[in-house]
Amino acid sequence: MLEARNIAKSYASAEGPAPVLRDVSLTLEQGEFLAIVGRSGSGKSTLLNILSTLLAPDAGQVLYAGRDVTRLPEAELAALRRRDFAVVFQMHHLLPYLTALENVLLPFMTGLAPAPRDAVERARRCLDRVGLGGKHHRLPGRLSGGEQQRVAIARALVKEAAILFADEPTGSLDPATGREIVGLLQDLNADGLSVVMVTHDLGYASCARRVLRMENGAPACAA
Ligand SMILES: Nc1ncnc2c1ncn2[C@@H]1O[C@H](COP(=O)(O)OP(=O)(O)OP(=O)(O)O)[C@@H](O)[C@H]1O
Ligand SMILES: [Mg+2]
Repeated sequence: MLEARNIAKSYASAEGPAPVLRDVSLTLEQGEFLAIVGRSGSGKSTLLNILSTLLAPDAGQVLYAGRDVTRLPEAELAALRRRDFAVVFQMHHLLPYLTALENVLLPFMTGLAPAPRDAVERARRCLDRVGLGGKHHRLPGRLSGGEQQRVAIARALVKEAAILFADEPTGSLDPATGREIVGLLQDLNADGLSVVMVTHDLGYASCARRVLRMENGAPACAA
């Protein structure tokens, strides 16, 4: 479904280009749950951003459904992102003055995704799905950190994307709440959503069906 081939990426630094990813290849099958683990600075976020097309690699290819998406024109890339890919970050990036329901509807309000006729119904279902039935009209400030992350996941679900990319979705949560969020991602994966999750916590990574460990800019081993 998604395949990375020989990805390389450097960032400019005062001492010249600093390589972050040297030669990364991986595949994600449809319906898979892949965890990317590694120390801070090992290039996990860089890799996730390249896989989700938010960042272009210096070399190598990302193939989605058989097409090289690293060389697509910007308009096609934008269409792909809003249709097929959803992203959740460590910081949930909810808008504080919108209710949970309005935050979930955001992808449609901004034109990021074409609004279906049943957008509100769908948003309600997504909030119910992540366990927030009864809290649809709360502002983020009146939700706990874990509940806020659930809203962010519901917002990712509402587009019915094919792949959910999550970068340290448990990073700002206590361990028990973090496990709940990973459990939710597992449930969604069991329902058919493909998931790529970055985490530095091996405990959470063991929930994934496959683990890619990043070391010195390349996968160290796959379990
Ligand atoms: N935009 C950027 N410009 C320059 N250097 C960057 C940039 N983004 C990341 N880096 C550097 O690239 C390396 C890898 O960063 P990355 O964010 O991918 O690591 P990470 O594995 O996600 O780390 P963490 O677990 O701390 O989130 C780090 O050394 C970082 O300083
Ligand atoms: Mg990171």
